[in-house]
Amino acid sequence: MDINGRNFTKFLDRKRKYDKQNSKEAAEKQHSKGKLLAYERIEILFDKGSFEEIDAYVTPAFIEKGFGKMTSSYGDGVVIGHGLISGRLAFAYAQDFNVMGGSLGAVHAAKIQKIQNMALKMGAPLVGLIDSGGARIQEGVASLAGYAGIFFRNVQSSGVIPQISVIMGPAAGGAVYSPSITDFVFMVSKTSHMFVTGPNVVKEVLNEDVSFEDLGGADVHARKSGVANMIYDDEENTLLGVRKLLSYLPANNLENPPYLCPSDAEKDVEEKLRDIVPDDANKPYDVKDVINLIFDKGSFYEISELYAQNIVIGFGRLNGKTIGVVANQPKVLAGTLDINSSMKSARFVRFCDSFNIPILALEDVPGFLPGVDQEHSGIIRHGAKLLYAFADATVPRITVILRKSYGGAYCVMNSKNLGGDFNYAWPTAEIAVMGPEGAVAILYRKELAESEDPAKLKKELAAKYRNEIANPYIADEKGFIDEVIDPAVTRKKLISAFDALENKHVNVPSRKHGNIPL
Ligand code: HXC
Repeated sequence: MDINGRNFTKFLDRKRKYDKQNSKEAAEKQHSKGKLLAYERIEILFDKGSFEEIDAYVTPAFIEKGFGKMTSSYGDGVVIGHGLISGRLAFAYAQDFNVMGGSLGAVHAAKIQKIQNMALKMGAPLVGLIDSGGARIQEGVASLAGYAGIFFRNVQSSGVIPQISVIMGPAAGGAVYSPSITDFVFMVSKTSHMFVTGPNVVKEVLNEDVSFEDLGGADVHARKSGVANMIYDDEENTLLGVRKLLSYLPANNLENPPYLCPSDAEKDVEEKLRDIVPDDANKPYDVKDVINLIFDKGSFYEISELYAQNIVIGFGRLNGKTIGVVANQPKVLAGTLDINSSMKSARFVRFCDSFNIPILALEDVPGFLPGVDQEHSGIIRHGAKLLYAFADATVPRITVILRKSYGGAYCVMNSKNLGGDFNYAWPTAEIAVMGPEGAVAILYRKELAESEDPAKLKKELAAKYRNEIANPYIADEKGFIDEVIDPAVTRKKLISAFDALENKHVNVPSRKHGNIPL
């Protein structure tokens, strides 16, 4: 066939064959499972018409000694390329389940590695859309080597460019480890599953029956394992979620996060903040109310909402600037720090620090969660992660103590001596070595034992302790916090403090890297 007198037959034949791969029948196969084609997903992820594909016509590797059949296809089951997300450059790969179950062979892996190299070189985020049965069995060790090469690049890119994985079908075997190295994992409810070994292997090895959903569904990974940071009900909303997350992030570790002009209606004085913390120190409240009243309207985007709900993490904007927030949640487990909440928040602090995102800690924590289970599972080691992450972070760091700040938890939650730049407290703050009841029980053990009415005496002593010791004024007078503030002006104070820290620079001692208690 000629175009303008030139013979383009081969060019057009290839295109026709390629288009057939993504025909109506192929689409129906995916749609019947509630899933979209790789191209349809890319269209939602990127700004309209901005995606440019490369390597569309590569073919699968030739295998001399194979087992099972190989499908001859263009692209080898993965689409790679670049485009714009909200006007900013991003790279992506999207696996095509219709080609050998999205399994990863040598050429498929080489394509993913190529786009990883490009994203790193160009300093732009990489999004992986995963829909894969794992290592391609027919290609044997070449598939395993392909995965190892991807993991290597994930690690090289870690802390340099944001890496996001979106699970949109199975992610089995080798397909799970790249996501777990990347910064954020999105999953789609019901249609995506992640597991190292599937239900069949579980049955064979352990003789246990478990469904795909119970073993590695989105809900399990969002609530129990913590592997999934974000889950959505369908693919479109999942991909829109990725676009939203990227709007808070810089393209790489040498840039600052994007600025988004706040609305005119933002209030600098918010009286409602004065009433959020209840008079009764044991009464819970929702720290998300505080977050929403401090940040620019509607700007709070929570991460890992369903996992370790005793701590809240996420991104928001303060006068247009991206801020990462770590807040104890008094509504769940009284806001205590346990293993899961320490790990959740430590990784988030590390992410913010890697990408020049200032951190705000909102503190109301009675201490670490006591118990044999926590101690035996390593709360010492895991709690230290959060401590380490805060102390190691060189981005601007501010703490506001809303209420309880007792014991080790005082130290851990970005205290002044851990390198916090500005530490404020509300008048409702209780700062002390331990809570009133515990302190009284230790200091007045003898008196309580000898008392005719120990309960009454304990109550009186606890009230005295709360009044005289567990308040913010001793810490303020000794300079352990910078100021006790009126809750209503918290937003204003924070905007001004983060502005003052804009050019913060810290000289870190020369070393290969620290040794965080992993
Ligand atoms: C080659 C594969 C494949 C694989 C699926 N297919 N997985 N081909 N290698 N790993 C092919 C199937 O043969 C089938 O081909 C097509 O993809 C669709 O698969 P179905 O089984 O029909 O689909 P479905 O019922 O939806 O089940 C999807 C699935 C299942 C859950 C992913 O296929 C499955 O369990 N696959 C194996 C998963 C697994 O154990 N992977 C681990 C590999 S080892 P046809 O021609 O019939 O359409 C590994 C180790 C790496 O990854 C370690 C690195 C650290």
